[in-house]
Amino acid sequence: MQRYKQVLTKVLKKVTPSQSDERSIKELANKALKTVAELAKAYGAEPMLVGSLTRNTWLPEKREFDIFVLFPEKIKEEELEKIGLEIGKKSIKKLKGSYVVEYAQHPYTSGKVEGVSIDIVPCYRVTSAEKIRAAVDRTPFHVRYVEKNLSPKLANEVRLLKKFLNVNHAYGADAKTLGFSGYVCELLIIKYKSFIQVLKAAKKWQPGEIIDLENYHMKEDYPKLRRKFRNQPLILIDPTDRNRNATAALSSPNFFRFKKLACEFLKKPKTEFFEEKKFESITERELIEFQLKRRTELILIRFTPPEVVPDILWPQLRRFAERLQSILEEVKYEFKVLGKDVYTNEKDLAVVLLEMEVSKLPMVQKRIGPSIFDLDASKKFLQKYKKPLTGPFIENNFWCVEVVRKFVTARQKLLDSLSKDVDVLKAKGIPNFIAKQIKKRFEIILENAKIMELVKTNEDFGVFLRKYFEKYSLW
Ligand code: UTP
Ligand code: MN
Ligand code: MN
Repeated sequence: MQRYKQVLTKVLKKVTPSQSDERSIKELANKALKTVAELAKAYGAEPMLVGSLTRNTWLPEKREFDIFVLFPEKIKEEELEKIGLEIGKKSIKKLKGSYVVEYAQHPYTSGKVEGVSIDIVPCYRVTSAEKIRAAVDRTPFHVRYVEKNLSPKLANEVRLLKKFLNVNHAYGADAKTLGFSGYVCELLIIKYKSFIQVLKAAKKWQPGEIIDLENYHMKEDYPKLRRKFRNQPLILIDPTDRNRNATAALSSPNFFRFKKLACEFLKKPKTEFFEEKKFESITERELIEFQLKRRTELILIRFTPPEVVPDILWPQLRRFAERLQSILEEVKYEFKVLGKDVYTNEKDLAVVLLEMEVSKLPMVQKRIGPSIFDLDASKKFLQKYKKPLTGPFIENNFWCVEVVRKFVTARQKLLDSLSKDVDVLKAKGIPNFIAKQIKKRFEIILENAKIMELVKTNEDFGVFLRKYFEKYSLW
């Protein structure tokens, strides 16, 4: 116990905001609340401070708070969106800040005032969490639950957990991270009472683990719950909605990574666990070494990402990579992908990386047809291959031919499949925003010199390549 204490006391100093910081951000929050309230009154709406500032669980470096504007249920959705944005923009202007419009399920205002980010999000005021129309309507219920159940003493434990996850890139339920949200961190601390206890519990979690703070479900129903939330490694029943898994976004690699980190910290507590590890960009020599060791071929498909929010961009990118793999692996082409990953800086560079197990094939391709005793199928086969390279011949009573292969390199196949109109690309299952970008321009990169060019102008991409090759162990 003593061992953790020393480390955690040190870290706590870093994750707790200074008193003056706290005072100034809370003053700003009060001012913002008043401003929003004045503008919202005319519509029967009222602001509510939500998120980490209400429970003293924000990290000092984040400097952000969230104001939700609760509208009466009778107001129409388009109205709520329009007025919600208007109130947000006007408020930020009055506070002498700048703003951008962000998109979740509804558009909302994200402002910057005195170096602090302020999210102003419109939602409906509903009487119970089961009656919500959009995910944002649930947030006020979360606020009330945490307010009631997270004692002020535990706020710092939440901060430790958030920081621990954050430096390990597992904090946030967004589509890029697929980790633990702020609310989930708070629920875990409510359940286990301290950072250390959360780690000790995580050590024992098994895929399909169920955490039900309010005991909404009986043990007999756990198998049913696991079926309902199948493929979700952790099932944390939302105390404000018994039908929702609060950790639905958590990916299985992140689940196991958290378990592993927990084990390692408990074994050997160090402040380094709360510091972000810096990775170097890959060097040309290392790239060559990896290739010599693996003897695979790297293919990068590079294009400019569409201008959509990260929560749309990342899933589309991943789906694109899936599709490219299945196109290459169609039985008639016989290419094989060993591994793949996606990268984007969310601005001007998007890359799908395909590591090929089979990327070059002989010119000749053997086609094995039907049994000679299946007369109908034989007729069709022989009609189809009128002028093969060799054959038709028979092997073990099956008709065979050898033909000239259509694509002998994966690059040719990709080039052919991607050089199409948007409609064709979409019909192939390529996500719509990506299809539009691919139609404009894309590049297939194979040569190390070109890969290294990309690395030199994008260090972050070089780090991504290193991490691809040095896959961390999850066990
Ligand atoms: P935050 O992402 O700001 O989280 O969302 P947080 O709990 O305040 O934690 P940190 O300290 O900033 O990281 C605040 C609340 O707003 C909801 C979230 O679910 C959370 O309850 N929210 C935010 C949405 O529902 N949709 C959004 O687009 C943004
Ligand atoms: Mn917040
Ligand atoms: Mn926010």
